[in-house]
Amino acid sequence: MTVLAHTRLDIRPLSVFTGAEIFGVDLRQPLDGDHVRQIRDALHKWKVVFFRDQHIDHAQHLAFAEHFGKPTYAHPYDAVPPEGYPQIRPISSASKTGRRGERWHTDVTGVVNPPIASILRANDQVPEFGGDTLFTNLAVAYANLSEPIKRLADTLWARHQFGGYNGDFENQTEYAQKVKANPIVSDHPVVRVHPETGERLLFVNPGFTRRILGVSEEESRHLLALFFEEIVRPEYTVRFRWQPGSIAFWDNRATAHQGPGDFAYLDVERVLYRITLEGDIPVGIDGRQSVPVIGAPFKALAAA
Ligand code: SIN
Repeated sequence: MTVLAHTRLDIRPLSVFTGAEIFGVDLRQPLDGDHVRQIRDALHKWKVVFFRDQHIDHAQHLAFAEHFGKPTYAHPYDAVPPEGYPQIRPISSASKTGRRGERWHTDVTGVVNPPIASILRANDQVPEFGGDTLFTNLAVAYANLSEPIKRLADTLWARHQFGGYNGDFENQTEYAQKVKANPIVSDHPVVRVHPETGERLLFVNPGFTRRILGVSEEESRHLLALFFEEIVRPEYTVRFRWQPGSIAFWDNRATAHQGPGDFAYLDVERVLYRITLEGDIPVGIDGRQSVPVIGAPFKALAAA
């Protein structure tokens, strides 16, 4: 009888709370169940995991993603997927040039079921320096709030929408026009419970959270300023330097991230490819589920 010897992956944390690099796996090959479990466990513990020197193509990227969930279409508004891969969203520096700093965000929280995870991959179009991505940990952000503020946050709900905190766009891009013509808006608990780890997460982000519900506009602004400041405390974050063949895989329920703001100063080419996995509907600590206000859930693509 052949006994398969499972290897323990080499998991190297990058900061106290957030991010670990995983070595000892070749993502050109299908993963075995034990490696899937080890990667998922590392994801739950470190919230974002990174792989290096994984020179995979679109089909292998998709196969990797399918070990962990069901890929959605590339994006609700903003995607020109590669031929034959409607699940893949190219993200290029050309689309970011001129922006001084992207907002911190959790992917697609305007929908009622934001993706459970995102998998972002570089091939060889990455700059030698610049273009880093930052990630933060929404579980530790909640855990370190004082008890009275936790009790308040536990009761609050927030409106999330494409267009974000300001509810508007700095310039009239094609994307902004599409959002305006066809808004997507949902209400989520400010504190959601992670269905797999049971952790409480401070589930707000400047990229999408427009307003705290049931309080005045001014109170909402102050509360969001407090929460936004908390989620981006430097000690909760990790900064990832892209290299050819790098992959970042984040738990989109438990993180926020910020794309690079330095393309306004650098003339560099950077093309990444992202897959998002269909999300569950967030649940607050009282068991109430998020509600759609405008727009449909962001579902997995139906099998061909
Ligand atoms: C993203 O927001 O998913 C992309 C981040 C990046 O371009 O670094």
